[in-house]
Amino acid sequence: MKHELLDLSPVMPVVVVDDADAAVGAARALLAGGIKVIELTLRTDVALAAIERVASAVPDIVVGAGTVTTAGQARQAADAGASFLVTPGCTERLLEAASSTGLPFLPGVSTVSEAMRLAEHGVSALKFFPAEPSGGVAYLKAIAGPLPSLRFCPTGGITPDNAPGYLALPTVACVGGSWLTPRDALSAKDFARIETLARKAAALR
Ligand code: 3PG
Repeated sequence: MKHELLDLSPVMPVVVVDDADAAVGAARALLAGGIKVIELTLRTDVALAAIERVASAVPDIVVGAGTVTTAGQARQAADAGASFLVTPGCTERLLEAASSTGLPFLPGVSTVSEAMRLAEHGVSALKFFPAEPSGGVAYLKAIAGPLPSLRFCPTGGITPDNAPGYLALPTVACVGGSWLTPRDALSAKDFARIETLARKAAALR
């Protein structure tokens, strides 16, 4: 994955969508709050349609597909217009499928060997997942010695309170989190609340 994508915003919003209209509203609200990227997770039936809608209706936000766990989903996400792919972990098939889309790819890792294996394939930007249960800031600090050229987007258990600790690490490009788009705000179409959360997140760095 091109590091520039990770540098777009200090926080990569991880969004679970139940409604494509709400996804468009959330994307606009994030952008208004200064967040230039959105990860729509393939956890619901409407996710692919939402990616398509956001990509065409909110062209100024970079929309990616998250929770990509199969080769088929990687292709579907690319066809829907995703600009990048995020996976919680990585397999050979997934790596092959993601590479064949030509899209920037942010695969999840939680161990040194997983990170080294992906580095052998030329992947140097990684999602550290699940960040907090896997050892958090202390773990990332410890592996920066042997793996200084890798960059991470820690995700999983990140909050506005612990995000600054991650963002202070030289190997952390941005953090990922679902707190910018609470499900109740999405279902109530409370986009003003999402914009406020986005503005605070954008100011984290
Ligand atoms: C993810 O899907 O990447 C994580 O589940 C997001 O984790 P969070 O809900 O703890 O932010």
